[in-house]
Amino acid sequence: MSTTTSPQRIGLFGFGVVGQGLFDVLHRTPGLQTEITRICVKNRSKSRPIPASHFTYERNDILDDPNIDVVVELIDDADAAFEIVSKALRVGKSVVTANKRLVATRLRELLDIQMETGSSLLYEASTCGSIPIIRNLEEYYDNDMLSRVEGIVNGTTNYILTALHEPASTGYASALAQAQVLGFAESDPTLDVEAFDAAFKTTIIAAHAFGVVVNPTQIVRRGITTITPFDVSIAQQQSRTIKLLSRVQLHGNGLSLLALPALSQNASPLAGIRNEVNAVRLTAAFSDAQLLVGKGAGGGPTASAVLSDIAALRYGYRYEYKKLNQASRPVVGHNVETVVYVRGTNEQITSIPFSVIDVDHRSSRGRYVIGHVQLDALHKSAAFQDPETFIAIVPED
Ligand code: HSE
Repeated sequence: MSTTTSPQRIGLFGFGVVGQGLFDVLHRTPGLQTEITRICVKNRSKSRPIPASHFTYERNDILDDPNIDVVVELIDDADAAFEIVSKALRVGKSVVTANKRLVATRLRELLDIQMETGSSLLYEASTCGSIPIIRNLEEYYDNDMLSRVEGIVNGTTNYILTALHEPASTGYASALAQAQVLGFAESDPTLDVEAFDAAFKTTIIAAHAFGVVVNPTQIVRRGITTITPFDVSIAQQQSRTIKLLSRVQLHGNGLSLLALPALSQNASPLAGIRNEVNAVRLTAAFSDAQLLVGKGAGGGPTASAVLSDIAALRYGYRYEYKKLNQASRPVVGHNVETVVYVRGTNEQITSIPFSVIDVDHRSSRGRYVIGHVQLDALHKSAAFQDPETFIAIVPED
């Protein structure tokens, strides 16, 4: 691990939006004494904005180069990324990655490799782009008793939802296309709009906030693809705004995890978070509620988090995962009452075992219900699995 102030030599994997952002940022900040020695890419025929001499197509040109001390992994393929990251750690290099799928789905193995090798793996950019959430959860919230971490963790869906609430909205498809052009969306935007990306980030937050390693499939997840102008108009009539919410919350010794649409009250700070901006609201015993806000997607903001990790490696920083070693850790469970909005057919709605129904609206535009239900019962209901219903939680604050 690099602990000196000698120049850092970086081997970069991937040269997409974030890789190019990092290249630009480093070029504009020569005082950092950090240089990208080699860039490994897959596609030989793609035209690129810098000379071909920077590139290699052979990953071992970086992994076997003893002069490279930091590997920065910014590729799309989580399996190839795991091979690269694990080998880099095993040969004694420090690694910085922005790959949330890699970290969320292989966290247990990555923890073991870090433990075995003593090498440092940092991934601030994987969760909420430029917002320094991981390091804050590791260091600042080490002793305060967190009860809830929630927020807007996907820039693409927030960009689409912001557009859908505008009076002159041109609709879902054009907002998604715009988010793709701006470089916010994943190469496969299904990951954004079906909330897989939010579930990956929720998984990473759960590990650092509560010391719980879960599989992203354990998260109660639904995306925004079934939203209609009717849902938006109902939210607006109730002075609410539809957001995609990620939430990890303690209930006694239980921990619920979700990535779901939410009808946020307009008075809530999350309702005012627009476009690709992300926000994380932390609730803890002594500090009470706090909000971190910043750009969550795009080359510059994500590269800034990568750069911060690279700089932290200069003083030998590594995550200690202290909460994973706490004597008592919460147990994942979704048996918690939740207020939800469900728009669908009579059959879909009656599949949900509501304990209390607050609103049951039927009109020529459709039927929706706002009611109370256990989150795990909602998760198992036919309506939740149905590809046409729109389901959103209705938070109290
Ligand atoms: N597709 C992701 C988003 C990129 O929209 O938030 C940043 O992780």
